[in-house]
Amino acid sequence: MLDPALTYLNHGSFGACPKLIFDNLKDWQIRMEKDPVQFLESDIFPLLADSRKALGNFLGCEGDDLVYYPNPTHAVNAVARSLKLKAGDEVLSTNHIYGALDFTWQQVCQDSGAKFIKAELPLPIKSKAEFLNIFFSYMSDKTRVIFISHITSMTAMIFPVEDIIQFAKDREILTIIDGAHVPGHLPLNITELDADIYTGACHKWMCAPKGTSFLYVRKSLQDEIMPPVISWGWEGELSNTSLFLNRHEWQGTRDMTPFLVVPEAIKFLNDNNWQERSKLNRKLVISTRNQFLDLLNGEPICPDDWLGQMATIELPIDDPLQFKRSLMEIYKIQIPVFSWGNITALRYSVHFYNTEEDVKRLVAAVKELLH
Ligand SMILES: Cc1ncc(COP(=O)(O)O)c(C=O)c1O
Repeated sequence: MLDPALTYLNHGSFGACPKLIFDNLKDWQIRMEKDPVQFLESDIFPLLADSRKALGNFLGCEGDDLVYYPNPTHAVNAVARSLKLKAGDEVLSTNHIYGALDFTWQQVCQDSGAKFIKAELPLPIKSKAEFLNIFFSYMSDKTRVIFISHITSMTAMIFPVEDIIQFAKDREILTIIDGAHVPGHLPLNITELDADIYTGACHKWMCAPKGTSFLYVRKSLQDEIMPPVISWGWEGELSNTSLFLNRHEWQGTRDMTPFLVVPEAIKFLNDNNWQERSKLNRKLVISTRNQFLDLLNGEPICPDDWLGQMATIELPIDDPLQFKRSLMEIYKIQIPVFSWGNITALRYSVHFYNTEEDVKRLVAAVKELLH
């Protein structure tokens, strides 16, 4: 449904919804409006259970260990506020944390007297061993929670969360993984990964409608994680379902139809051989990065195998907003250009609909603007 006049290289921010999937959303909304009482008081709960089951099969976990949320920031807020951190506890993350969630943890730690620590992982990252050495050097016997991105937002890197989860498990540290970019981007098996808590967006790389994300919570922790809003499901009104699902799902009037579209989005991914396409897209991301590095005489910010379908390229510019504006106004290229730490950079994303021509156009436009 993207405007054909645009070269859209920013799937990573808000995804993009194919017409087939968008039409499925409209079908659910029409069904809801035919009898809102029947739909919102009765039909919705078994429909949500079916949708969670399909998502659980896709993510390698039980559907009943998942609840839908509009976005990962809502989900992590619910978790962070449920933890009952104490003064002196430490929450460990990194300087690559997603900005909104940086605010969340700063505030939650300030409210409880806990300490929020961000491991400084400077660019370039050369190897997993170096990364883990630096990250673990920030741990102490006060570390209670590790919160880390699986794929980072601004720097677009796949972090070695498997190693971190195993390390934390041996020390009884709670692991909360921000996998906003992972579903439909990397194969994911949450049970094998063994994180305590995992959140991801379906509206990004799975191409589901906006406002479709999930929170996975390990069964033994579910009674400790509260929704941000206390509503009808609080005392467990819905029978045949856990208190966790009751409390998170039965939240009064809200539009849950985007959540029902998830099985259609999974079908769309499978019908389009997403894992094969993803491998090809990763090749295109790497070859494009090499072209940029040649053009800029630059250094990669991470090894090739830390990249998925996005990459961040450092640019020698002073005004990222103006650069972004020029890319849009002159070349009709939709792409984020920003400051991060002490660098300025752009991040390009490649999904089903992008072609080699799109990224060639980007490299040529950057070359022209820099000269
Ligand atoms: C790493 C990461 N975490 C979380 C999010 C969640 O975004 P939001 O909750 O603002 O929609 C994003 C979105 O881009 C992200 O990149």
